[in-house]
Amino acid sequence: MGEQIKYQSRGAYQDLYDESIRNPKGFWARQADLIHWHKPFDKVLDDSKPPFAAWYVGGQTNLCYNAVDRHLDQLGDKPALIYVSTEVDQEKTYTFRQLHQEVQIAAAMLQKMGVKKGDRVLIYMPMIPEATFAMLACARIGAIHSVVFGGFASHSLASRIDDAKPKVIVSADAGSRAGKVVAYKPLLDEAINKANHKPDNVLMVNRGLIAFDQVHGRDQDYTTLRKELANAKVPVTWLQATDTSYILYTSGTTGKPKGVQRDVGGYTVALAASMKYIFMGEAGKTFFATSDIGWVVGHSYIVYGPLVAGMATVMYEGLPIRPDAGIWWKIVQDYKVSVLFSAPTAVRVLKKQDPAYLSKYDLSSLKALFLAGEPLDETTSQWISSAIGKPIVDNYWQTETGWPILAVQRGIEEMPGKLGSPGVPVFGFNVNVLSEDTAQPCKVNEKGVVAIEGPLPPGCMQTVWGDDERFVKTYWSSFKTRQVYSTFDWGIRDEDGYFFILGRTDDVINVAGHRLGTREIEESISSHSAVAEVAVVGVADQVKGQVAVAFAILKSMDALDAAQSKTLEAEIMKVVDGQLGAVARPARVYFVNVLPKTRSGKLLRRSIQAVCEGRDPGDMTTIEDPTALEQIKASMN
Ligand code: PRX
Repeated sequence: MGEQIKYQSRGAYQDLYDESIRNPKGFWARQADLIHWHKPFDKVLDDSKPPFAAWYVGGQTNLCYNAVDRHLDQLGDKPALIYVSTEVDQEKTYTFRQLHQEVQIAAAMLQKMGVKKGDRVLIYMPMIPEATFAMLACARIGAIHSVVFGGFASHSLASRIDDAKPKVIVSADAGSRAGKVVAYKPLLDEAINKANHKPDNVLMVNRGLIAFDQVHGRDQDYTTLRKELANAKVPVTWLQATDTSYILYTSGTTGKPKGVQRDVGGYTVALAASMKYIFMGEAGKTFFATSDIGWVVGHSYIVYGPLVAGMATVMYEGLPIRPDAGIWWKIVQDYKVSVLFSAPTAVRVLKKQDPAYLSKYDLSSLKALFLAGEPLDETTSQWISSAIGKPIVDNYWQTETGWPILAVQRGIEEMPGKLGSPGVPVFGFNVNVLSEDTAQPCKVNEKGVVAIEGPLPPGCMQTVWGDDERFVKTYWSSFKTRQVYSTFDWGIRDEDGYFFILGRTDDVINVAGHRLGTREIEESISSHSAVAEVAVVGVADQVKGQVAVAFAILKSMDALDAAQSKTLEAEIMKVVDGQLGAVARPARVYFVNVLPKTRSGKLLRRSIQAVCEGRDPGDMTTIEDPTALEQIKASMN
């Protein structure tokens, strides 16, 4: 084995971490006390079928109960959900008691449409309270939700409908971005038309933002049903800890998104533990995560985590700089936010605005700013830290894990951070930097693959929805010699045990904290009738971290003049907008005659990316046509 490298604390962190690795069953049995159990578990962990891990076997609990009902006695009249929209100029606070009732009403609506335990409910919604009600309602009755990010368009939505096969879809007429209405309903209708699977019902929240056609018999109106079911009482359905709470699709190497499947009991415990030891959560205080419910951060730290911890959670619909760059800090002041969670891109956007906005509001309630989702560069980190005078806590994780893998865990002890590093391993994660070839730990500061020894701790994905084989093949088969979970991130670990993340090992790119698969974008571009072949790579960008850039070979060999190129580029972008959503739109589409490939036909994406970023493309001995990279370079000028 390689050297053992550890964070040099001899204090509380090291003790807690060591115990979690040495004696995971004892450790997680103790953490289970953080939540309510209807029936105690018989077995903390069943890892008899690796790499599958079943936590809290035999135990019965409920995520919604832990998030809402459990707090009614102590916090019933305290804020639970704070909705702030700078898009439609609305602010509304729901107490735990009000949230409890809204969730029961939503649960009654789903039951009325025949939704039962184990049925899937797809949620395609903007950041409005009804989205949270719908998620919690599913959790309450044991229906499995699958939230699809509102920025995705009909093709992305259709493939998720076909995979999850929802009985009901909950949606809204429209969202709003920068004051402009973003229609959801027509995209949803188009997606349902495209999909092979058809939901029985669509539950529609009509915000009055667009006129839309109802599909008779299928579409149901939320407001009408809400009135009808205003006093509904829907008891919690006690679930097995190992039952499924939700599916959340995420991008990988292939064009087909994977449904990350999460359990009930392990997830609730993991969130509760993370709120205590990482996020310094305190019941009765306010948590504000600026993400979207369509992403994993939204699931874990807009909806479930803060509520499980008895905190009020802010659901913000709007941009960080509208009406001005002071809006988040105003929310911090107005609602006495104690924990703020955002992404580096948002901070880089703020950095371009007048710094006076950052000192205009009273931030005394704020303990720290947590940032995750993409690499946090040192300049951005230093800038925001001195601008707001609060600790900045970078944390590294994935949709698959559901909660942080690496972080400076200030809820355990005052640990020093290091610029550019998301910190040290989080309790429960036996994480290492492994050599790609030997699967053995790398030396200090040597680059390798960030990997986690099984069994994964509670809260992590159980499997790929409907495809156990894909789970094993995708995540646990990177190393030939042994079964280890690959994060698909490169990393190093320094002499003090701090990790540094150096980008993905696969074809996933990270645009403004949004995780996208280059294959999906390639497939979409290829559907344009003029395109013969295309390569999409992620290229470094000062604000968004990365942007997608496409290089396409056209079917016709006739050269395009500049105006024709521009028109075609715009057309291709429109195809991507329509199929996947503007979030996946490439920043540029360049036209070339040949793409760099190996002699066996494998696209050399990393070499293209290197050329785009002005780096050395590396060993080119396997390239089929050495002029291909020259063309890439030339096309960009
Ligand atoms: O590449 C890593 C990057 O985002 C990926 C996971 O994205 P997603 O599934 O959307 O989950 C985001 C949860 C916060 C990772 O594989 N990533 C995430 N956090 C960091 C990061 N890269 C560097 N530093 C981080 N703190």
